[in-house]
Amino acid sequence: MKLKGKVAIITGGTLGIGEAIATEFAKEGAQLIILGRNFDRGQTISSNLSASCGVSCEFYQTDFNDSKSIIETIKKIIEKHPKIDILVNNAGIATGGTVESLSEEQWDEIFRVNVKAPYLMCKYIVPVMRANGSGSIINIGSSAGLVGAWGLHAYSATKGAIIQLTKSMASQYAKDKIRVNALCPGATKTPLLEKVDHEFIKMIPMQRMADPSEIAKGAVYLASDDSSFMTGANLVIDGGFTAV
Ligand SMILES: NC(=O)c1ccc[n+]([C@@H]2O[C@H](COP(=O)([O-])OP(=O)(O)OC[C@H]3O[C@@H](n4cnc5c(N)ncnc54)[C@H](OP(=O)(O)O)[C@@H]3O)[C@@H](O)[C@H]2O)c1
Repeated sequence: MKLKGKVAIITGGTLGIGEAIATEFAKEGAQLIILGRNFDRGQTISSNLSASCGVSCEFYQTDFNDSKSIIETIKKIIEKHPKIDILVNNAGIATGGTVESLSEEQWDEIFRVNVKAPYLMCKYIVPVMRANGSGSIINIGSSAGLVGAWGLHAYSATKGAIIQLTKSMASQYAKDKIRVNALCPGATKTPLLEKVDHEFIKMIPMQRMADPSEIAKGAVYLASDDSSFMTGANLVIDGGFTAV
């Protein structure tokens, strides 16, 4: 097992890619801490993974649109877990719109959830990792952070920001043995991407969307010692979308 004995925080672990990452991490023996808003899903996923994989799994109800909620959760986690090995900043929203159509409120909300929340998680978890002498942080970006995204102006800007944050943090914290990498999925079958038209899928060289487990396996690689010399990198899993 690649993550046996490791303590992993996964934000947005209640659905989609985050749930798949939680599942793959549990199969690899990680002790899980899942964050999200949906209490029922969080509890159900935690008890199912504990039962099926024999790992401990806790859920903390947290709203990533609210700094106070995030900081309260982090304090509770740190009190209980002085050692945290892995942080996956996955929770995200994808409000559609252009600079003209997006309201200021929508713009601010997507930046709070997709950029400010990962910053707050890192702000408080990096010192814990440094004190323990190692850590792996995985920031979930997007192919939309690498190339422009039609009708998704704010989303694309948040994902570009997270990719750059990854590189800056990686260079800063390498001396502390904290690795920081981004994982950029392409179109993936989750509730976030409910309506994808056929024309869009034709633009993906592999002519299909990813299953969330295909993204989660990349997260296992970045979290584990298999990627021990990798930091500041960007693992793109997009069926070739950004290759052309
Ligand atoms: N699906 C794709 O095609 C795709 C492609 C590229 C990148 N991504 C990225 O991958 C990540 C996961 O996306 P997904 O497709 O799995 O999305 P999803 O199915 O909509 O799941 C989003 C997750 O984020 C959590 N979340 C959203 N807003 C939150 C908030 N205010 N507070 C706390 N948690 C919140 C949700 O938890 P609750 O509902 O419990 O709050 C849920 O667990 C995102 O960062 C997304 O940008 C997705």
